[in-house]
Amino acid sequence: MSIAPSQRAAGPTGYPFVGVFPRARRDPLGFFMECARCYGDVLSMRLGPRQVYLLSHPDHVRHVLQDNARAYAKGPPATRVRGLFGDSLTVVDGNRWRQRRRQVQPAFQPGQHAQFASVVTLATQEMLERWRSLAEGSEPVDAVTEMRRLTQTIIIRACFGDIATAEIEALGHSLDVAVGHVDRRLWSALGWLEIPTLAAGRYRRALRAIDAFVSQKVREARRTTPPPGSLLAALLASPGAGEPVTDADLCDELKAFLVAGQTTTASALAWTWYVLSERSAVRAQLEEECRTLFGGRAPGVEMLPRLDYTRRVIEEVLRLYPPTWLTARTPVEDDTLAGYTIPAGGIVLLSPYVTHRHPAVWEAPEVFDPDRFTPARAAARPTLAYFPFGGGPRHCIGSAFATTEMQLIVASVAQHYRLALARGVSVIPAAGLTLRPSPALPSRLHRLCAG
Ligand code: HEM
Repeated sequence: MSIAPSQRAAGPTGYPFVGVFPRARRDPLGFFMECARCYGDVLSMRLGPRQVYLLSHPDHVRHVLQDNARAYAKGPPATRVRGLFGDSLTVVDGNRWRQRRRQVQPAFQPGQHAQFASVVTLATQEMLERWRSLAEGSEPVDAVTEMRRLTQTIIIRACFGDIATAEIEALGHSLDVAVGHVDRRLWSALGWLEIPTLAAGRYRRALRAIDAFVSQKVREARRTTPPPGSLLAALLASPGAGEPVTDADLCDELKAFLVAGQTTTASALAWTWYVLSERSAVRAQLEEECRTLFGGRAPGVEMLPRLDYTRRVIEEVLRLYPPTWLTARTPVEDDTLAGYTIPAGGIVLLSPYVTHRHPAVWEAPEVFDPDRFTPARAAARPTLAYFPFGGGPRHCIGSAFATTEMQLIVASVAQHYRLALARGVSVIPAAGLTLRPSPALPSRLHRLCAG
């Protein structure tokens, strides 16, 4: 029997006005997983003021992100994060997005990688040096905070060159306040209202501080020589797309890098230490690979293609704990998927967290198994069954940077330290702006012989 094209997908019913919002808010991951299990690959529900469609099959993800990408815009959900991302590549649509992407892309060309890798290596060595005294103490460190500090230092130096530690700490603090505020408000019932609370005041001050910092760096770079090898220098040198890049454009893009380039990588790394702490056989094999390849030295970027097991572990971490666990699109005109109408203006939700557990693609999806990412098994899967970095024309512009960064950090740390989650701590994934371990990862640092 064929399904009439106008049919609306089934889904959970909710309360008047708010729909399923209270249920989704209580446990977003559990709720979306349950919805996909009960209602299938295309489901419809009212989430707060909007009708949303959760699509979980890889073919539908491919349809929205890749095959029919022109018919989908970022739309209203992007406005919820505009404070952090400004009018950057991450949120704009249509011709404006196409022009921006052409302007920004050269900053992420492979030629930039060696410089970026040296920033990563230096910041990681500094952290390992600092850990020497911490490893001797009796207090555990929080791996979430450590990874956030590290990835902040890296992205700030990658953007602006070698800047003073005090400046990094001040900017890092403002980023923490701003990101934390948006993170908390994403699932707040009044999240879309600007209520003048103390927290909102702190948020606005943090945004002003980030703006002031970034604008000053852009002005200095225009006046003198931009920091060699930095993303700022690369943006200024970009041939662009026929339009000059204004200072305001530059500031927005750099602010977006500061947020998108750090929160995601920090979450992925924190989850990696969690997984390694819980699975001694995986940890032993990863440590062995890093020791054999690098012999206690800082890994060079040219050696990364030889990291096989470590790469697979990171890929499997991104499958089970994708930092960008949810992304949204709005069809600009009515679309039809698997016989269901997705009306213009509706919100389509795609969740790597859900699709990465789709039972038609992933066997025993909750089991941590790096061998899912052997080349043969990866090639046998449908496109976009795995999409931690998105897909299609708007796939993550920093994915190669992030992958290099994570591999270098894991390979450096695993040769010198073992992070053991403190006893009796229970950790759950918190689904906010990114998917991070909550409430924290108090971990004991054990120094290994090579350290
Ligand atoms: C583990 C690390 C990272 C993950 C998981 C990640 C994930 C993603 C995803 C899923 C998207 C697509 C969102 C969508 O389709 O709505 C995206 C886009 C983007 N990412 Fe990343 N990202 C990471 C690291 C980075 C880094 C290091 C940078 C920059 C330094 C970056 C900059 C961006 C930008 C600018 C976009 C917007 C691209 C566009 O719309 O054309 N990301 N990222």
